Amino acid sequence: MNPLLSRLQPYPFERLRQLFVGVTPNPAYRPISLGIGEPKHPTPEFIKQALIASLAGLASYPATAGEPHLRDAFRHWLQTRYGLAVDANTQMLPVNGSREALFAFAQTVIDPGKKPVVVCPNPFYQIYEGAALLAGADPYYAASDPARNFAVDWDGVPLEIWSRTQLLYVCSPGNPTGAVMPLGEWEKLFTLSDRYGFVIASDECYSEIYFGDEPPLGGMQAAARLGRADFRNLLSFTSLSKRSNVPGMRSGFVAGDAALIRKFLLYRTYHGSAMSPVVQKASIAAWGDEQHVIENRALYRRKFAEVTPLLSPVLDVKLPDAGFYLWAGVRGSDTEFARELLAQYNVTVLPGSYLAREGVGLDPRDGKPAGNPGSGRIRMALVAETAECVEAAQRIVQFVQSRSK
Ligand SMILES: Cc1ncc(COP(=O)(O)O)c(C=O)c1O
Repeated sequence: MNPLLSRLQPYPFERLRQLFVGVTPNPAYRPISLGIGEPKHPTPEFIKQALIASLAGLASYPATAGEPHLRDAFRHWLQTRYGLAVDANTQMLPVNGSREALFAFAQTVIDPGKKPVVVCPNPFYQIYEGAALLAGADPYYAASDPARNFAVDWDGVPLEIWSRTQLLYVCSPGNPTGAVMPLGEWEKLFTLSDRYGFVIASDECYSEIYFGDEPPLGGMQAAARLGRADFRNLLSFTSLSKRSNVPGMRSGFVAGDAALIRKFLLYRTYHGSAMSPVVQKASIAAWGDEQHVIENRALYRRKFAEVTPLLSPVLDVKLPDAGFYLWAGVRGSDTEFARELLAQYNVTVLPGSYLAREGVGLDPRDGKPAGNPGSGRIRMALVAETAECVEAAQRIVQFVQSRSK
């Protein structure tokens, strides 16, 4: 067996299951889960119809690079959303959801013979860690700073780590923090990438769910603004799952540096990760329509506008820049909070410590051991209908008030 498999950590939902062993949720309440970040708004009808209308595609093997119409749909979307000029033939590829691509990309990029490091934010999406470990790299976790809207403390990464770094994952808008990376931070990362030669994988799957007037800055958009029109050493990962409420369709794309795309295509050809022709057709329809995305965003905005003010008097929480999570500070242990909340009010939330790792060394801000930046926090995914999320929030308020008596 591959010995690296034993380095993989249990997934947060497995840990949640273990945490809840022996807990009997209060039967007076119906269960509400804010635990899993799976979109629950309905899939638009026209996407379902496009799938059904394309079933003839089942009769042929797809090309890994995708059909020209699909790549042109990506090109058009990048142009209208970010004002980018990207070559549909050399700078983009379809992927079966961003998750598999984020994983596979590390297998393409990492040279295991050189004590490689993969840097990722902390807290983070656990696929980055598994991708790093199975590629034979050591993950390094760079903590996000609550005092700076959860910006990652890139300055705290030691030079010895940067000098071994081959791949950096960034997540903007972030899961779970919702933070969007500003241009200045991108500039810092591009400078580091030029100096140390590492590749940046920019996970942007929440880019279309945002709460301010300005849509989140994309990695390639930042590169173009900073005069890096070739997107060197950068790949962006974009997905339909959250934008179009089709997590089950498994559809996204990557775009960026043509040299990286060429190698990734080679890897994917052997890995066998071509997108079904049926999904390709439905994806063309989904990328070509913005109306459903506007309506989806409006639904999240209304929901967050109702739920956040209910919770902010009792938890350390505010409206995030983007995404569909509230990342809230609680009093005491996050795991105890989650267990007791389930037992007393039948609401499931995810303990923040399950989404992060212990930091290395001392925290430069206070000189104390770096600790787990997710501990003392919970993640609430506001994916269910507004009424259900409001009811969960009301129960959480009662729970917090009863605890502080
Ligand atoms: C930060 C982040 N990246 C990537 C993904 C993967 O999404 P998909 O594979 O559906 O595109 C998720 C899913 O929850 C996520 O939270």
